[in-house]
Formats: sequence, C-alpha cells, structure tokens
Amino acid sequence: MPLSRLAHIQPSLGNAMRAYHPGTASHSVRVATMARAMAVELTLSDTAVEAVQWAGLLHDLGKLAVPQHILDKLGPLSEREWLEVRRHPSVGSEILNSLSTDFGPVAAAVRAHHERWDGAGYPDGLAGDDIPLAGRIVAVADVYDALTHQRHYRPHVFACEAAMAHLIGGAGSHFDDSVVHAFCRTHDRSA
Ligand SMILES: [Fe+2]
Ligand SMILES: [Fe+2]
Repeated sequence: MPLSRLAHIQPSLGNAMRAYHPGTASHSVRVATMARAMAVELTLSDTAVEAVQWAGLLHDLGKLAVPQHILDKLGPLSEREWLEVRRHPSVGSEILNSLSTDFGPVAAAVRAHHERWDGAGYPDGLAGDDIPLAGRIVAVADVYDALTHQRHYRPHVFACEAAMAHLIGGAGSHFDDSVVHAFCRTHDRSA
C-alpha cells in the first residue's frame, strides 16, 4: 500500500511534535527536505523517495517520550539522561509500526538514523549496507542541520562550508560515502 494512504496521519504526528518541542519539529521539516533531495539525487524509486521524506519528517518522533527537561538541558547529560535520549530511534519506530504495518520502511529508517557506517552508532550497532539506506540518508541531513542551526546546548553554529567539511571528514566512518557525495551535489546546486 502506498504511503500516501497514510497521509492523514502525518499532520497529527507533526502537530504532536510541534506542541511538545517546536525546535525538533522545525528541524524535522528541514531534514525531510534535504533527505528527499538526496534520495532523488541517488535516483531512488518514487516509493523510496517518499519513504525517505517521511523518515526525515518523523525521525525524531520518539523524542515525544524523552522528558522535556532533558531535551532542553543546558550542559552535559548524565549517563541516565543520555540513556533516555538514546531510546528515541527505537521508540519512534515502535510508534510508527503500531500505527500501520505500511510504515515498515519508514520505521526501519527512523530506527536507524543514529547508526554509523563503522558500526559505532545506536541502537543496533549496524554497519555499512546493513543500515537501511533511508536511515543513512537521514543521518547525513540530521547532522548537517544540527551543525548549522543553534542548539541550546551548543550556541556555536557552523557555517555551511564548515558543516560540509565535517560531513566529508566523516564519509566512510560516520556516514555512507556515496550519500555524503550525493548531499554535496545537491548542496552545490542549491548554493
Ligand atoms: Fe535523532
Ligand atoms: Fe534529528
């Protein structure tokens, strides 16, 4: 069944995120736009492009289960708080899977957006091609947006060029090299 059949659910989830944590909601919209552009650049099928866009929009849905004082905490998180934050990919994917089995590919990408190419990510420690491609795409957009927008815990904002250099530096270790290069091409065209 196409994801468009689930389009009525999207505003509800977006509204829930906007009400709970507006910064995460606007971050998610930007991530979805960049992730979609990368998926198109990588010549994925229309269905896969749609799934990538949804995954970008919903990748941090599980933060609804993280207490707001932790999301907004200034300064370093305690070990216990960090464990709470690290639950958000699996919680988000569980919410989506509970809504509809048609969310399967989106839920898998949401679960995988903090995995790393070298296997050092979470929650499953997947590496390389074992990480769903949509998750690898969202990971690149997610980090780029985090670096180029102010966060309460990190007032310093990277310029676009510095953020791109960070992504390129992580290609093949943190990120899928082919995805980073697709991002560079879309970024160069929009600059
Ligand atoms: Fe996340
Ligand atoms: Fe994110």
